[in-house]
Amino acid sequence: MGRRQELEKKQSLLSRFGASIASENRLESLLSRIAQQVCQVLNADRCSVFLMDQAKGELWTTVALGMEEKIFRMPLGQGVAGQVAKTGKSINLKDAYKDPRFKEDLDRIINYKTRSVLAVPLKNREGKVSGVFEVVNKIRGMFTEEDEGLLSILSTMAASFIENATLYEELRKSHLETIYRMALVAEFRDQKDTAKHLRRMSRFSEILALTMGFSHQEAEDLRYAAPLHDIGKVAIPDSILRKPGQLTPEEYEEMKKHTIYGSKMLTNAESKLLRIASKIAVAHHERYDGSGYPYGLKGEEIPLEARIVSVADVFDALISERVYKGAWTLEDAKQYIKAHERKLFDPQVVAALLKSFDLLVIAMEEENRRMGLEGEMSAVLVSPPQDRRNRSKGLDHK
Ligand code: C2E
Ligand code: SIN
Ligand code: SIN
Ligand code: FE
Repeated sequence: MGRRQELEKKQSLLSRFGASIASENRLESLLSRIAQQVCQVLNADRCSVFLMDQAKGELWTTVALGMEEKIFRMPLGQGVAGQVAKTGKSINLKDAYKDPRFKEDLDRIINYKTRSVLAVPLKNREGKVSGVFEVVNKIRGMFTEEDEGLLSILSTMAASFIENATLYEELRKSHLETIYRMALVAEFRDQKDTAKHLRRMSRFSEILALTMGFSHQEAEDLRYAAPLHDIGKVAIPDSILRKPGQLTPEEYEEMKKHTIYGSKMLTNAESKLLRIASKIAVAHHERYDGSGYPYGLKGEEIPLEARIVSVADVFDALISERVYKGAWTLEDAKQYIKAHERKLFDPQVVAALLKSFDLLVIAMEEENRRMGLEGEMSAVLVSPPQDRRNRSKGLDHK
């Protein structure tokens, strides 16, 4: 290839690189998109983007292990990438295993043999090192000085996108956390394990949605909207909400209004998440056969998100202890959902529950562990203690 052609090729590679990464604003997908593009441009077999975690004094990157993405971390100053991050200077090695700066840890994890490696610093707007770009195993020959220049350009181009995505991620996280904490406030008076119930039912909702073919984004939105389903309970008096026994018909009528209250609190929201939450709040007690409340909507008249949350919420309510009832076993809860297919629940959602049951149990166990109650819970689920068994299975007023 002539010099001129080569330049033109490079230019078009660079502009394609810019266009390709400009369309991603989620940090994780941005990083893997960048790595993939950089590999192509530099004819490398493998590429990593390491980012600095200032608080921990570490670099981290995502590595693909089969179907899974794992986070790999290493201390600043260690390995090739760690050196580059510390000094701000590029490193170009022909034979990594002969250089004491190279660390084999990542190779070992992904079962790989690094030969040549080129690593350049990633600098932010203020010129401070915020990460490292690393390309490994040039397809033919070794990485040249020209490659080094090219990688530096790519790294500069990518830096501002990474910075934006990081800010966006921050914002998103704080938005989600605020929503979640709002939900906690609402259920705080209701039951002692509010946080656990909310985490579990929203994980269940996400898993059911994924099983039913929602995209990852849609399923995640549902996950974060779901905890707000009972926010209207803040307006229900303690004498009803915390009543240890069964509600009178009048009390139950009052209780049912939590759906209307919830939708009023969330009405006309700007944010997409809150709009989904509003639909769920008003419709999560509707029943597939039209016998639910507040409006007696039937089948597809009930928003799909609410049909999903209804299954997730009732399933988790059944396996949980409440002021008015003991905890059911997983098996009993599953049978209950199955038995009420088409009456209470959308058959599609019930099918998803049966199909993903193992995943639901794993998610439940994860959340229980996170809340530090694993021992207690598994004891309850495997064999209900006598006193719980004897307690009312509850809600016979319906
Ligand atoms: P929750 O405790 O979060 O329960 C949510 C839904 O799970 C219930 O909606 C019901 O569909 C299902 N569920 C929960 N426990 C049982 C059970 O033991 N048996 C059966 N068959 N289903 C169960 P529902 O019935 O519309 O109740 C809405 C909310 O009203 C409940 O939320 C709870 O806060 C309150 N509630 C309902 N019944 C009683 C009661 O007898 N006493 C008290 N104190 N509160 C009640
Ligand atoms: C290193 O940077 O020393 C190890 C990381 C790698 O093998 O890519
Ligand atoms: C809960 O999730 O509300 C309680 C779980 C239990 O101990 O049964
Ligand atoms: Fe509810």
